[in-house]
Amino acid sequence: MTAQARGRCRICGGGVEEVLDLGRQPLSDAFRRPDDTGPEFFHRLAAGRCRACTMVQLTSEVPRERMFHQGYPYRSSGSAVMREHFARTALGYAETELAGRDAPFFVEIGCNDGALLRTMAGAGVRHLGFEPSGGVAAVARGHGVNVSTDFFEEATAAAVRESHGPADVIYAANTICHLPYMESVLRGVAALLAPDGVFAFEDPYLGDILQKTSFDQIYDEHFFLFCARSVRSMAERFGFELVGVERLPVHGGEVRYTLAKAGARRPAAAVRRLLDWEDEQGVADPEALAAFASAVADIRSDLIDLLRMLRAAGKSVAGYGATAKSATVTNYCGIGPDLVSYVCDTTPAKQDRVTPGAHIPVRSPEFFAENRPDYALLFAWNHADEILAKEREFREAGGKWITYVPEVRVL
Ligand code: SAH
Ligand code: TYD
Ligand code: ZN
Repeated sequence: MTAQARGRCRICGGGVEEVLDLGRQPLSDAFRRPDDTGPEFFHRLAAGRCRACTMVQLTSEVPRERMFHQGYPYRSSGSAVMREHFARTALGYAETELAGRDAPFFVEIGCNDGALLRTMAGAGVRHLGFEPSGGVAAVARGHGVNVSTDFFEEATAAAVRESHGPADVIYAANTICHLPYMESVLRGVAALLAPDGVFAFEDPYLGDILQKTSFDQIYDEHFFLFCARSVRSMAERFGFELVGVERLPVHGGEVRYTLAKAGARRPAAAVRRLLDWEDEQGVADPEALAAFASAVADIRSDLIDLLRMLRAAGKSVAGYGATAKSATVTNYCGIGPDLVSYVCDTTPAKQDRVTPGAHIPVRSPEFFAENRPDYALLFAWNHADEILAKEREFREAGGKWITYVPEVRVL
């Protein structure tokens, strides 16, 4: 199975114009054993924009089973801020959309380790998570969460409609942008959702990505980079209406889009406001994307210059957070163990492995405490507040943080 190149938009079939080439990239979550010398999967990573519907998307796709499987390492509960965000989100739906309904039913697409659904389970809410990555699905089950390991799509959603009845809320975080087969997904949502139900999903926001030049949000799993304009057009194409938008501070800036069946609900005023703001900013315009591509190239040269300068000065540098995003950065910039000697990360399934493509060893936070570098390159920049607070001692002992979002800087 190889990555498949397409010249056509996965939403509307329009022509896709390439805007950013990030070169040869590995699977962003394929952490390897250090002694694994077998062939590594690489694909060419590039983003493009549909001339017809403006949707920004990858120009080729990796087969889903290569990315999401038993050993998929990402754990939603690895961040205290995200645990709190999901607990609050679950309680929010319990108190609003689900309140006053008879035996309400909540479905999550991509429930991972149950970071959100464990709150639903605890509150006794009827729920089901779709999670094809078996390892993390088992963790969710351990927390009392009901999980199907099917990929959510038309057929699997229709089967749940048969067995469980309609869903009042279908929710997804950081998952819908992972699904190139959107037509099947939205047909599935249409089949499973109650006539007056909502489909809400939150994903990295193109507006923030352009503003922060956070090009590392582009990797194999992040197939679409959504904005309100492109999501509205996608919704309408498949019989839905965009009725709500909410900007969220998590993961470097996201938007939660709420869709309802066409005509079922009145769009909130915030939808018009965000659409107008996007028009003013030209968020989905080719000019904005061209400016982004040139800013990305500047970050690459600034980051490489800084790391080479530090190496020449005999300074040690470690990475912080073996994120999927960092695969894009290290492989695009050519950063290997010669420039960043290790990356520290809390995720058990990443530790004592090497990062995809760049092969930088992954170590525990304890190792970081015992082997403090002069500089720590913050790959998990989206969790900066949480990490800088917990690693206060690193700074107090003279350690310095490096970030590359929105520009290369020593903090
Ligand atoms: N919602 C979590 C996890 C995001 S990672 C969070 O925000 O932290 C994306 C998850 O979607 C992975 O766990 C992956 O296994 C899962 N996934 C991928 N394709 C899917 C599909 N078609 N249906 C349901 N889950 C899917
Ligand atoms: P994240 O940025 O959430 O996502 P992605 O992999 O999709 O880019 O990943 C954060 C990574 O950083 C994850 O592997 C866990 C790790 N991490 C730490 O090591 N320490 C921390 O305090 C936090 C918040 C995250
Ligand atoms: Zn299109």
